[in-house]
Amino acid sequence: MISKTLEKAINQQINKELYSEYLYVSMQAWFADQNLDGFANWMQVQGQEEHFHAMKFFNYLIERGGSVELLAIAKPPKTFTKPLKAFQMALEHEQFITKSINELMDLAIKESDHAAKSFLQWYVDEQVEEEANADRIVHKLELIKDNPQGLYMLDNELAQRVYTPPATTA
Ligand code: FEO
Repeated sequence: MISKTLEKAINQQINKELYSEYLYVSMQAWFADQNLDGFANWMQVQGQEEHFHAMKFFNYLIERGGSVELLAIAKPPKTFTKPLKAFQMALEHEQFITKSINELMDLAIKESDHAAKSFLQWYVDEQVEEEANADRIVHKLELIKDNPQGLYMLDNELAQRVYTPPATTA
């Protein structure tokens, strides 16, 4: 059975992952409004990934005899000024999530909850990819600056992203 402290922290993390989904679908809507459908597609897939992250915690808490409590999801921003700004914000958000996952891991270590440590390792590894994905696009947008042709090409590239549910579901 999971401790009350970890249960509370995981419930807060479920909320952060659901807010991540909210943030990225808000970015999806903004990109769609700019007629940048490839960027919108990338954000849609990102939102689906965040939903998976939230539900993976949700299922784990139930499996460990914990109780899920859904907290209020904050309103995300509606406009993002320009593509580079949106991806810089996405990168900063992922860095915030990494910090939060690391704090959960610290808690699991403090409590000698080896099962939780093993479970959380998946998120530690996932966050490396999450930050790298956003960072890669920030760098491309910095190269492109305001060049419409570059933006058009990147939009086409981001249109290719598809959601593939991870093999792990626990
Ligand atoms: Fe769920 Fe993007 O971290």
